[in-house]
Amino acid sequence: MIFLLSILHLFSTSVHAVPVNVHISDLVQLPEYSTKAFSLSASPIVELDLSDEELSSFARKLHSTRNRCGGFVAGETHAPVVQKNLNDQIPQSLLRQPEVLALLPEAQEANLKEFILWFSSFKTRNYSTDSGVHAMVELADRWRALTKNVPHAEVTLYQHADWRQPSVIVKFKGESADEIIIGGHGDSINTDSGDPEAHAPGADDNAAGIGVITEIVRILADKNYRPKSTLTFMAYAAEEVGLRGYMEIAADYRAKGIPVKGVLQFDGTNYKGSQDLGLILIEDLVDPRLNTFLEKLIGTYLKLPFAYDSCGYACSDHYSWTYHGFSSAFPFESRIKEENPHIHTARDLLSVSRDNAYHAVPFVRLGLAYMLEMDQ
Ligand code: BES
Ligand code: ZN
Repeated sequence: MIFLLSILHLFSTSVHAVPVNVHISDLVQLPEYSTKAFSLSASPIVELDLSDEELSSFARKLHSTRNRCGGFVAGETHAPVVQKNLNDQIPQSLLRQPEVLALLPEAQEANLKEFILWFSSFKTRNYSTDSGVHAMVELADRWRALTKNVPHAEVTLYQHADWRQPSVIVKFKGESADEIIIGGHGDSINTDSGDPEAHAPGADDNAAGIGVITEIVRILADKNYRPKSTLTFMAYAAEEVGLRGYMEIAADYRAKGIPVKGVLQFDGTNYKGSQDLGLILIEDLVDPRLNTFLEKLIGTYLKLPFAYDSCGYACSDHYSWTYHGFSSAFPFESRIKEENPHIHTARDLLSVSRDNAYHAVPFVRLGLAYMLEMDQ
């Protein structure tokens, strides 16, 4: 089978192709893609070369034929290899309790709610649309306004080579070259429709995660927090079409040899699917040492019940950093089987979360505690 696929690949003539890695079993119900697939090894992961147009319909078809979301990775030229971690700088103990405890009450549900309503009011934040570009440019304006009185803060738009939607990055520059990162995806998708312009409010997936990041940025800016390491916050483009934006950024960090202490991923923070839990720690494709550190933060600062769960595939951009050898973790809103059933549809609205953002508040507190306690 793999030999056959390799031969077929030799005859394929895609010019502006995007390599997409997918598990071979995902193609059983999509035979039209088999002629585009090839494998480099005996791995069950095969590579497809798809054009940008084909990528969107592939995401939609994969979503409807599998009993879960898509789970494919675009942009890498070989099957995924989980690399060795590059750093060993996760603190063993929490040393900044008075400062963290002073910041936690600053997290405001009203700000999160306002942000989610605003960001989900764009018709779509699909990476290939005008409104997907506008949403990110306006997000950068908001982050600039929040940090205007902080001389060591800088907001930039990260332009990607292969599509127009930029990622947005704000850095609070520290004294050392080390970076502590929190990110989430800014784009959205409607997998019910082949039209990239279809309504995709993405309130939970992932206006809520970007709202959490925005609230952390606001609080640190208002307190004029001066870090030792550089604190970096990112809203990245094109996650919903195969983790493309963050893969590119993480590859850049690795190529430049930037020392990253850790990366926290916020993707889905405001749907309380699991009534008995405050949050879930995803345990596959992450750095277990960073999860142990998060456990300490949850025990000391949040005092909420939590549990571990697994996606079972590269379900979000924690994987992009793991792939490139950095420590990453992914605190999530619910157990996977109790996840918001409306993501990727026109019904991913704040009304699904009863028009409030209370479930997202502890994620702001966790992010603040993570930033300060990693910045020792
Ligand atoms: N927010 C989802 C990931 C998610 C969904 C995590 C359900 C946990 C439960 C994310 O934005 C997403 O949709 N990811 C894609 C994977 C990507 C490689 C295209 C997915 O799951 O289909
Ligand atoms: Zn999604």
